[in-house]
Amino acid sequence: RYKAVIFDLDGVITDTARYHYLAWKRLAASQGVHFDEAFNEHLKGIDRMGSLDLILASAPRAYTPEEKLALADSKNAHYVELISTMSPADLLPGAVEALDACRAAGLKVGLASVSKNAFAVLDMLGIAGKFDYVVDAARIARGKPDPEIFLKAASELGVSPADCLGVEDAVAGVASIKSAGMTALGIGDPAVLAQADRVIAGLDHFALADY
Ligand code: G6P
Ligand code: MG
Repeated sequence: RYKAVIFDLDGVITDTARYHYLAWKRLAASQGVHFDEAFNEHLKGIDRMGSLDLILASAPRAYTPEEKLALADSKNAHYVELISTMSPADLLPGAVEALDACRAAGLKVGLASVSKNAFAVLDMLGIAGKFDYVVDAARIARGKPDPEIFLKAASELGVSPADCLGVEDAVAGVASIKSAGMTALGIGDPAVLAQADRVIAGLDHFALADY
């Protein structure tokens, strides 16, 4: 029933969500801001500067744009260091099988991550060749929950949004998929991803025929 499946990367295909969490936690601590898993849930799927703004909103002082850029760069340097040893062993269970199942069913396969590290991560995981189109986050004006990134993927794949299944672990990502007019498959907790059409625990439960 679909013509394309568009996947998020962090937290869906590989557990980089953990590394983003660790890098933001250290950055927050350095600025005297409390940071925990619950707050991190709001940052999933949110782009780098947007995430930084949410963290600094509870900082004791204001920041200049230059200071913000320096903090974002330092978070990213830490993140890049954390992911530097990634390999195909870091693929989440069922990820490759899910990508291959979509292709075998004749569907286009896209990637819609707002991470500017997405191309590097795909290379380290050894799966760059499994996508018909990967959105370049540097060319996206509005991050999730705006639908822009999923709409861009659909149009580059030559498929109408109504014929797309989007796969996401983040609340903001599911919102992006739904406002793009696509069906949303959530990865994670159904109570958190309440806006998703279906929720599964991980891609090891992915069954294309069910959605
Ligand atoms: C993904 C992650 C976010 C991250 C964002 C930007 O959406 O879920 O946690 O902030 O990408 O990543 P980047 O690698 O560009 O800092
Ligand atoms: Mg994600």
